[in-house]
Amino acid sequence: MAAIDGAEVAKHNSKKSCWVVLHSKVYDVTSFLSKHPGGAAIILKQAGSDATEEFEKYHPLDYINDLPDGSPLGPIDPNTLGKLRARKDQTSASASSANEENEIPHVSMCVSCPDFEKAAKVVLPLKSYVYASTSANSGLSLRANLDDWGRINFRPRVMRNVGDVDTRRSIFGHSSPYPFYISPMGTLGAIHPGAEPEVVRGAVRKGIHAVISTASSKQVDQIWQRFEDEQKTLGNASPTRLFYQYYMPVDRKRAIDLMHIVKKCGYKGLWITVDTPVLGKRTADRVLQAEEALAVGIAEEGTVEWETGEENAFAPAMGGRVVSGQLSPHTTWEDLQWIRKEWGGPIVLKGIQCAEDAKLAYEYGVDGILLSNHGGRQLHTAPSALMTLLEIRTYCPEVIGKLEIFLDGGLRDGSDVLKALCLGATAVGVGRPFMYALAAYGSQGVERCVDVLAEELSTGMRLLGVTSLDQLIPEMVNASRLLNEMWRPEGAVLKSRL
Ligand SMILES: Cc1cc2nc3c(=O)[nH]c(=O)nc-3n(C[C@H](O)[C@H](O)[C@H](O)COP(=O)(O)O)c2cc1C
Repeated sequence: MAAIDGAEVAKHNSKKSCWVVLHSKVYDVTSFLSKHPGGAAIILKQAGSDATEEFEKYHPLDYINDLPDGSPLGPIDPNTLGKLRARKDQTSASASSANEENEIPHVSMCVSCPDFEKAAKVVLPLKSYVYASTSANSGLSLRANLDDWGRINFRPRVMRNVGDVDTRRSIFGHSSPYPFYISPMGTLGAIHPGAEPEVVRGAVRKGIHAVISTASSKQVDQIWQRFEDEQKTLGNASPTRLFYQYYMPVDRKRAIDLMHIVKKCGYKGLWITVDTPVLGKRTADRVLQAEEALAVGIAEEGTVEWETGEENAFAPAMGGRVVSGQLSPHTTWEDLQWIRKEWGGPIVLKGIQCAEDAKLAYEYGVDGILLSNHGGRQLHTAPSALMTLLEIRTYCPEVIGKLEIFLDGGLRDGSDVLKALCLGATAVGVGRPFMYALAAYGSQGVERCVDVLAEELSTGMRLLGVTSLDQLIPEMVNASRLLNEMWRPEGAVLKSRL
């Protein structure tokens, strides 16, 4: 194919004819504009220009293959790059308002999780901050996630010789120095140029486990390679293990192929996200999308229909910016049979939100459940993980101890981890604090965030009167406020020992 002149590419800069350059190749994406799950505006901003940098923030390179047939036009003539259209300015303004302090604090100034968010706001473009912080509808489930940890109080024991404490906990037999891990979060390229590998670097250095998202900016094997490289640098001394969060592709062959790649790499468990048959309404993201559409003059065409649950399903990566061909709204419990056969390792269902489904998960033989409402990003007014855990304790306590139970959502303090463990959790996941730490400080921030949580955890253990996590028991917390609000069958009187 003959090389294409940059001046020619620059001419195709409208919704009638939209060309972009990706990794030195020219693509005609006109017919894809209306199908782009994140909306046409995002692509139109790049029309006639080199879109590689922006593309890489959100997609692994191989997603280029998902473009319609006929899109690739040929290589760009490297001598004519200067003739490409200058890209429409990305929103480079940071998320902090103009009159806020715009200096990023030294990492040592981050002494609790909320400090990372403040630092991230200084460096993150508004769009990336909105992606990280957005939640479903009016934000009530995110609020409840944050608040419910504070609505359970401790019942500490004293005079118990708490000079030394052991904070270790295992996940599926893989020991970790702490009972918390990094939750899977997609599209980290929009947060930090190092994306997921940068998180992995921090995790390995601190020895904590991490779950890697299907919607990652980098390819699954690239992330794994970084993991191995970091391990080697440390003489393979780090106990860190990677697990894989699985948005099941609609296409069965694709679903199986992905699972095999993940397995071949060496990921230790499959965390199937089950709370996302369709993408929740990410309100702040919608506002931004509408603004972007207005800015490029396509607002009258409305938003792309990515919520319809049609066969073209998606993966919820970046607000509405999702990955075609992934996540099946048609998944059922019966699918677990073939998934188990193909995977052959530990399976966790991520997004269990009531006692009945916890029981079903146990009956279907999964190895773990993650009580989660996706960081308050999916169903409006979904229950917090703590509320779901209390339901399980009340209505199907027989599952506790039979499968590994994880919680996530709103966890911002190491001592709160102890509450979950008192009530029977194996470990907890932490999401946004690590994302904000990554944004502001890269892997150093991830490490610092581990230290902050770890210190709160060990201090909490001493003040609670325990020296090892096995000593945590339900009697060490007062959960009566949450229990009073817990769902119960009509007419039932709650008898609980909590
Ligand atoms: C920006 C962002 C992206 C996320 N991406 C994914 C994802 O790709 N897959 C997934 O299963 N969960 C995803 N989650 C949900 C997290 O795994 C986790 O459930 C949640 O962040 C926990 O709440 P927290 O952020 O309050 O700690 C995402 C969460 C955030 C904030």
